[in-house]
Amino acid sequence: MTIQKKTAIGRAHSKIILIGEHSVVYGKPAIALPFPTLEVRSHVVEISGSIVLDCHYFTGYLEEAPNMLKGMAVCIAATLKHLQQPAEGLHIQIESSVPIGRGLGSSASSAIAVVRSLYRYFEQELSKVKLLEFVHMAETFAHGNPSGIDAAAAASDVPIWFEQGEGFPIKIGRPLHLVVADTGRMGETVEAVESIRKRRLASPFGVQQSLDLLGDFTIQTKEALAEGDFLLVGKMMDAAQRELRKLGVSDAGLDQLIHIAKNSGALGAKLTGGGKGGCIIALASSLEQAKVLAEELQRNGATQTWSYIVE
Ligand code: MEV
Repeated sequence: MTIQKKTAIGRAHSKIILIGEHSVVYGKPAIALPFPTLEVRSHVVEISGSIVLDCHYFTGYLEEAPNMLKGMAVCIAATLKHLQQPAEGLHIQIESSVPIGRGLGSSASSAIAVVRSLYRYFEQELSKVKLLEFVHMAETFAHGNPSGIDAAAAASDVPIWFEQGEGFPIKIGRPLHLVVADTGRMGETVEAVESIRKRRLASPFGVQQSLDLLGDFTIQTKEALAEGDFLLVGKMMDAAQRELRKLGVSDAGLDQLIHIAKNSGALGAKLTGGGKGGCIIALASSLEQAKVLAEELQRNGATQTWSYIVE
C-alpha cells in the first residue's frame, strides 16, 4: 500500500506596469495590470527533515539558500511562524514561466505562489493583507525599498491604481491590446531605483519635475482608460517614456524596441518595470495590429514577445 503524501499547490501570475514606475517610489500613483500569460507555481510536498527548496536558482536545504533567495527564505520562515508550524518537513518546488529580472514581477509572483501554497497545505484561509505582508518581506530583499506595486499587481486579478502602498481596482472602458517585448537582458531594478535616488540628490529640481510629470501622466491615463480613449493612453505612454529616459532608466536596447514599435504603428510604447534592460510594452489599436507589432519586434531584436488583451 502506498501512503499518499500531503501536498498543495499555489499559483500567481506576473504583472505589467502600464505607467508610473519609479515615480510610484516617490508617492505618485501608478497603474498596473495582471499579466496572466506568465505564471509561477509552487508545489509543496510533505517530506521528513529540513525544508528543501527546488527552484531555477537553487536546489537544496532552505537554510543553505544563496543570498539572492534570502528574501524568499525570510518570507517562508515568517509564514510558517504565523501558521504556528515548524520550519521543517516540506519540499517546496517553484516552477515559473516569468522571465527573471525583466520587470514582470518574477520575485513578487514567486513569493505569492509560495505563501499561497503554504496556506493551502496547512488548510488555512489567507487574507490579501496577510499575503502582501509576507510578500513584502521577500520583496524588501529583492528590491531594497519596494513601493509594493509588484506584489499588489501580481496578487490582483484586475487592473489596479496603486498609490501610497495601496491598490484599488480601476475601470478600462474597452479591451486594451498590449504587446510585451523582451530585450533579453536582465534589468536591474535595485540599481535603477538607486540611480534615480542619487540623481535626485544631485539635481533635485530636474528629477522632481520628471516625477511630477509622471504622476500627472498617470492621472490622465486613468481617465483615458475609463473612457476608452486609447489614443490618449498611447500619448501618455510616450510622454512617460521621455521622462523615464531623462531619469536615465531607459537604455539603447529598450529605446530601439520602442522605436520599432512606434514605427510599426503602436499608439504608444515605453519600458515597463525598473528599466535598464528588461521589457517594453506597446499599445496596439487592434488584435491584428498587435500581431504585426509582435512580428516586427521579434524581427528586430526582441527575444520574446507576448500579446495580450486587458479587459
Ligand atoms: C518595479 O517593478 C517598479 C519600480 O517602481 C520599483 C518599485 O515600485 O518598487 C521601479
